[in-house]
Amino acid sequence: KRRHSSESEPEEEPSSSEEEMEEQREETGASSGGGLSAAGKPEEGAKAAVVPQQLAGPSAMVPRAAASKPPCKPAVFVPVDRSPEIQEARLKLPILAEEQVIMEAISENPIVILCGETGSGKTTQVPQFLYEAGYASSSGMVGITEPRRVAAVSMSQRVAKEMNLSNRVVSYQIRYEGNVTDETQIKFMTDGVLLKEVQKDFLLSKYKVIIIDEAHERSMYTDILIGLLSRIVPLREKKGQPLKLIVMSATLRVEDFTDNSRLFSVTPPVIQVDARQFPVTVHFNKKTPLDDYSGECFRKVCKIHRMLPPGGILVFLTGQAEVHSLCRRLRKAFPFQKNNTTGGDDDREESVEEMRKFKKSRRRRKVMTLPKIDLDNYSVVPVDEGDEDRDAESDDDVAGSDIDLDLGDGDSEEDEKSDSSLPLYVLPLYSLLAPEKQAKVFRAPPPDTRLCVVATNVAETSLTIPGIKYVVDCGKVKKRFYDKITGVSSFRVTWISQASADQRAGRAGRTEPGHCYRLYSSAVFMDFEKFSAPEITKRPVEDLILQMKALNIEKVINFPFPTPPPTEALAAAEELLIALGALKEPPRTGRLKQQLAAKLSCPISPLGRIMATFPVAPRYAKMLALSRQHDCLPYTITIVSAMTVRELFEEFDRPAVSEEETARLKGKRARLLQMQKIWAGQGPMQKLGDLMVMLGAVGACEYAGCTRKFCEENGLRYKAMLEIRRLRGQLTTAVNSVCTGANLYVDPKMKPPTEAQATYLRQIVLAGLGDHVARRVQAEELLDDKWKNAYKTALLEDPVFIHPSSILFRELPEFVVYQEIVETTKLYMKGVSAVEPEWIPALLPPYCHFGKPLENPPPSYCPETGRIRCHRPSVFHRVSWELPAVEVD
Ligand code: CDP
Ligand code: MG
Repeated sequence: KRRHSSESEPEEEPSSSEEEMEEQREETGASSGGGLSAAGKPEEGAKAAVVPQQLAGPSAMVPRAAASKPPCKPAVFVPVDRSPEIQEARLKLPILAEEQVIMEAISENPIVILCGETGSGKTTQVPQFLYEAGYASSSGMVGITEPRRVAAVSMSQRVAKEMNLSNRVVSYQIRYEGNVTDETQIKFMTDGVLLKEVQKDFLLSKYKVIIIDEAHERSMYTDILIGLLSRIVPLREKKGQPLKLIVMSATLRVEDFTDNSRLFSVTPPVIQVDARQFPVTVHFNKKTPLDDYSGECFRKVCKIHRMLPPGGILVFLTGQAEVHSLCRRLRKAFPFQKNNTTGGDDDREESVEEMRKFKKSRRRRKVMTLPKIDLDNYSVVPVDEGDEDRDAESDDDVAGSDIDLDLGDGDSEEDEKSDSSLPLYVLPLYSLLAPEKQAKVFRAPPPDTRLCVVATNVAETSLTIPGIKYVVDCGKVKKRFYDKITGVSSFRVTWISQASADQRAGRAGRTEPGHCYRLYSSAVFMDFEKFSAPEITKRPVEDLILQMKALNIEKVINFPFPTPPPTEALAAAEELLIALGALKEPPRTGRLKQQLAAKLSCPISPLGRIMATFPVAPRYAKMLALSRQHDCLPYTITIVSAMTVRELFEEFDRPAVSEEETARLKGKRARLLQMQKIWAGQGPMQKLGDLMVMLGAVGACEYAGCTRKFCEENGLRYKAMLEIRRLRGQLTTAVNSVCTGANLYVDPKMKPPTEAQATYLRQIVLAGLGDHVARRVQAEELLDDKWKNAYKTALLEDPVFIHPSSILFRELPEFVVYQEIVETTKLYMKGVSAVEPEWIPALLPPYCHFGKPLENPPPSYCPETGRIRCHRPSVFHRVSWELPAVEVD
């Protein structure tokens, strides 16, 4: 019985998620060592050291080993034509002074670990060093992996620009898109993309160098890649075509990689690049943290802007929606005189209504003289009267706040410089922001403005924004949590780790001394965990195991993981994959212990190989793999997209503030219910239940042109519909690229499935969500009232119910599959479809035993059928296997 959630990270490709992943920073025990700088270029504050690992761990930094050897000149030098400005900016980066140390270490060792403070230039410069030293060519590329898409895209663009090369030569590849060509020599990609490439070509023969960037994040795929590369590098060496591996990270606990005899036979050298970091004064909030951290951020930024000397502000929030809403509030409060639209156009989601209000407020501001700020009077808030944002909080923030802003300790020179009427140049920054909009944060803000970047966790280590002097840290991060019952994940906002908090603070001290305002108390900070655990230990690993099996790594348990996942997680993953038919089932002979061992080393099946090529979780991959039958693929793609997006419909059950609103909500709810009945179709289609409603809603919405108006009128969430459209397109591309000859074209205006197709779809869904089968409790089984209308599931002993919002709520089919279980007053199944019991043995044979009746059948054994016994008799005992109804190919 598994009822806990465990925190973990996005599925499939970590960087693919709409939300930002939690980042972790691990400290190195390394203290900076001998400060000899390369090539006689003394660079203040920047030092590097190579640690001969035979001597000691990374904490024993010694002066550069290179000192004992004459520096060797690179054999090749490929010239790069950089602009003078770029060259000047590069020379300021600490890593430039260490080029020679780094290149010598790379030339002498197959594997090198490179640590350096974020912003020291690792990501942008090391690929250039390699290019100049002749490591990159179109037949032997330099490949760089990033755990986040945003970094892969933006870094490839940056490096191309710095080197004055086209993006045909310096390119990127992320899950569904990229600009790689035959000419590509430097390729940035997400770690998930490289993992897929290992499947096709285990030796990675297209590459001469692989750089694993941001290894400190310990993203699941990064960890696996390091394990795999620890084997690939010696194999390439044996073949006489050496592959160089460079593991790069912010300061971290390198011991996880170096003191790990399973990983590398010869411990690689560690090069530490120490960037100059100016002191950052950290200010904690005195009060216990508020729920409204977004509002608190707003107030803090207002204060900094009005009271403190020039310098950019970086705000850390948790998600895209929060980022946009704070940007809007700030732009309203501190509008630009004329080019305010520079910020406004970033806000794609700004509704017409908000735009109208915004314009109105700008008009009004023109005639309003902005009060000159009195430093002792916090209560002047430049927000228009009657403005929406002038809520109670904005006022008491100022009066009753416990903020301990550092006002420069009476440093009058600085105080004079503070100019409250300076416009605020507000920019959002998050993963999914269009690249050209992301790039804005790297450019200098317009003259006489103050830069304010409102970011999610991407700004913690992946991207370094120039000119930041103030950091406002809400202390939270949005993380994906996996529910162990259903395997379905959800995002939750949680506290960050101490290491993350320090990393965020460090963003303020890149170019001059800075300040970090933590919107939580120091007591709360002391309760933060020190580091976040590696992702692999926190999430279900079935997708990972499938990928590994596709690499023919059968005994996953013996794999050199930098940190191994828990054995139970491995066992659960194998069990699910066996049930899905992705792995060959082990023989059920021998002792239990042997059986268990066999279970943990099952080889992949042909179906599993196909599943491994789809860029979605195994349950959904199985559905896609079966869907070429009877032209079901477009429907399955839509169902999978809709299930991934979730919450397609507006929620009208919220409490209303007035009678008028009550009536309005009632009307809307009635309209939605009516539409859902229509979308659910008739006859056999109806049995597809909630999934048919999804299909119908998407089809109808697309037929109407997917307009906001249609969505509002019919109770659909407009944003969800746009997202589904995007995912359908992406999945279609992905399916076309893996299924030769599929040539699929998703007609947005999808015709409804035929009755036969609807039946096939139910079988396909059952085949994918097999472990989510539930059986209605029969009258004779009713133990007590709490089981009335209840279902039994394979995973829980408690009764579960069909959610009242389900179209099948009143139907109560005997057998159903569900997408997820949510727990409110009861355990409720959502995303429900009816299935026929006779399909179960045909589609989920691993769940069933076929054989003679047992002498002493377990109590729930069904004597009528007498032919099968299931693993989980309480769910399946009414199943008979005589009527297999679908071909599984
Ligand atoms: O990888 P690491 O954190 O060590 O540093 P980096 O990402 O290579 O960044 C080096 C410098 O380049 C930073 O000062 C960034 O602000 C700057 N940079 C930039 O100006 N524009 C970009 N698109 C990317 C980086
Ligand atoms: Mg970097």
